[in-house]
Amino acid sequence: MLDLELHSHTRYSPDSLSKLADVITHCRKIGIDRIAITDHSEIEGALLAHKMAPDLVIVGEEVMTTQGELLCYFLNELIPPYLSPEEACDRVHDQGGIIGPSHPFDPRRSGLGRNNLLRIADRIDFIEVFNARTYDKSKNDLAHLFAEELGKPMICCSDAHSLKETGISRTRLQRDYTSPQDFLAALQQAELLPHASSASISLKSTAATIVKGFGFGKP
Ligand SMILES: [Fe+2]
Repeated sequence: MLDLELHSHTRYSPDSLSKLADVITHCRKIGIDRIAITDHSEIEGALLAHKMAPDLVIVGEEVMTTQGELLCYFLNELIPPYLSPEEACDRVHDQGGIIGPSHPFDPRRSGLGRNNLLRIADRIDFIEVFNARTYDKSKNDLAHLFAEELGKPMICCSDAHSLKETGISRTRLQRDYTSPQDFLAALQQAELLPHASSASISLKSTAATIVKGFGFGKP
């Protein structure tokens, strides 16, 4: 059994102050077996964290496209922001990674929405069906129904921007995996462990953005 945190930010994102070493230590403490570090259109922190803890860290990115955000895993190179969703998907696959939408039906948070998702359906590998920071539960429910409709593997994530949020929602695999494709196969039998963040938690990201505006808390 393997507990995964598949959506997390560090101080390499503009809205988080979490230090890489603290994230790693915290994961060990709370029983997270793998964490995907998915900073906003940035992989420098994830690459460094992977060097620090190769058994724990998946190099990821939450890339902004022209239509909304997608989560990428098992990257070697940055996917630049503001590509079309199609091109972002193709670039991830070209380097052997996998990609799927984050909070796909949450318009407040750059979700891609149904029409975009249908257009790129054959290019996406999984769907985030629970995001702990999506406060309107119906938006997560829509994502779940949509993943069922398309028969895509589902992930359940904290979208952690602080240590306190890390691992509150998890995707639990029944077995380990040997490659990104095998990871997708293992996801088919995953258990989803959702737990919503408190509505006030997003204030922490706002505070982090302000602190960074004053030049503090940068990598
Ligand atoms: Fe995120």
